[in-house]
Amino acid sequence: MSWSAPGGPGRIAGDGAVVARAPAKINVHLAVGPLRSDGFHELRTVYLAVSLFDTVTVRPGDGLALEVAGEGAAATTGPDAVPADRRNLVWRAAELLAERAGVAADASITVDKSIPVAAGLAGGSADAAAALVALDALWGTRATRGELAALAAQLGSDVPFSLQGGVALGSGRGEQLSPVLARRRWDWVLGIAGEGLSTPAVYGELDRLRAAGRLPGGEELTPPEPVIAALRSGPVAALAAAVSNDLQPPALSLRPPLRRALRAAAEAGAAAAVVSGSGPTVAALAEDEESAVRLTAALAGEGVFRTVRAVHGPVPGARLVG
Ligand code: C5P
Repeated sequence: MSWSAPGGPGRIAGDGAVVARAPAKINVHLAVGPLRSDGFHELRTVYLAVSLFDTVTVRPGDGLALEVAGEGAAATTGPDAVPADRRNLVWRAAELLAERAGVAADASITVDKSIPVAAGLAGGSADAAAALVALDALWGTRATRGELAALAAQLGSDVPFSLQGGVALGSGRGEQLSPVLARRRWDWVLGIAGEGLSTPAVYGELDRLRAAGRLPGGEELTPPEPVIAALRSGPVAALAAAVSNDLQPPALSLRPPLRRALRAAAEAGAAAAVVSGSGPTVAALAEDEESAVRLTAALAGEGVFRTVRAVHGPVPGARLVG
C-alpha cells in the first residue's frame, strides 16, 4: 500500500472538524445462495443508494472517542442498540484505517443517525463508510478509493456499497461490486415497522426454513438481469414486476405483522412493496415524486409504521460535506 505519514489535512473547518455523510441502501433484488463454509451466504443483489443519510463528524482527539446521536441512539439493549465503543463499526473503521496508514488512531467522532438502526437499510455500514472518508481527510492519509474499498470490505458486506453509492450489482457476500446504469430517478417510500431485526437471525431463519423444506434450497440464484434492465430504462411497472428478496420470507416468519405492513403499502397505491434487505423496513415503490408524497401520507395514517420516509435514488456514496 502506498500510504505514508500524514501529508496534511483534508477539508477541515474552523474547529478542525471534518464532516462526511453516507446514504441508506435498499436491495431492489436480493438472491441468497446456500450457507458457505465461512458463515456467509453467496449473494446476487442489486443495491440502490437512497436519499436518507447518516452524518459522521470527526475532530482531532487523543485516542478514540465516539458519540452516537439521533434516530435510535437511545436504545441500550436488543438489535436496536448502538454501542459507542469498540463494538461499533465506526470504531473498527477508525482502528483499521489508522493501522493500515501507520498513523495514531486519534479522533473524536460523532455519528448523527437518520437511518433507522437494524432496519435492513445498512445504517451501520453507512456510518463506517462515512467514517473512513472523514478520517482519511482528518488524518491526511490520502487513501485512494480502491484502498478505502478494500478496508470497507473487511468491515462488512455492505460497507463497500455504502462507500460507492449509486446502483450496483453485488456478488460474493455482497462486497464485490459492479456498477449498474440507472437513467432515471426512482421514488420510494420507506416504512419502518416495530423494533429492528438482527441480520444474522434473519439469515439463520432462511437456513432453517430451507432445511425444513419450506423454501427452495437456494442452489439456483434468481438472476438479477430483469431488475437491471428495468432500472436502466423503466417503466415503473417493469421494476415493480421484477423486485424480489429471498430474505423476505424469513423476515416475515420472524415478524408476522410485517405481512400486514406489506399489504398496507400495496393497498395505499405502491407499485410494489418489498422488505428491504433483512428488514423490517418495507420499501414501497412509487410512480413518481408526487405519488411518493401521497403514499407517504397514506402510510403514515395507517398506524402500522413507526416512521415513514419518502426517499429517492440513486444518490452518491460516502462523501465529505461542508
Ligand atoms: O457482513 P456483515 O457483518 O454485515 O454480516 C452480518 C451477518 O449477516 C453475518 O455475520 C452473517 O451472519 C450474515 N450474512 C450472511 N451472508 C452474507 C452477508 C451477511 O450470512 N452475504
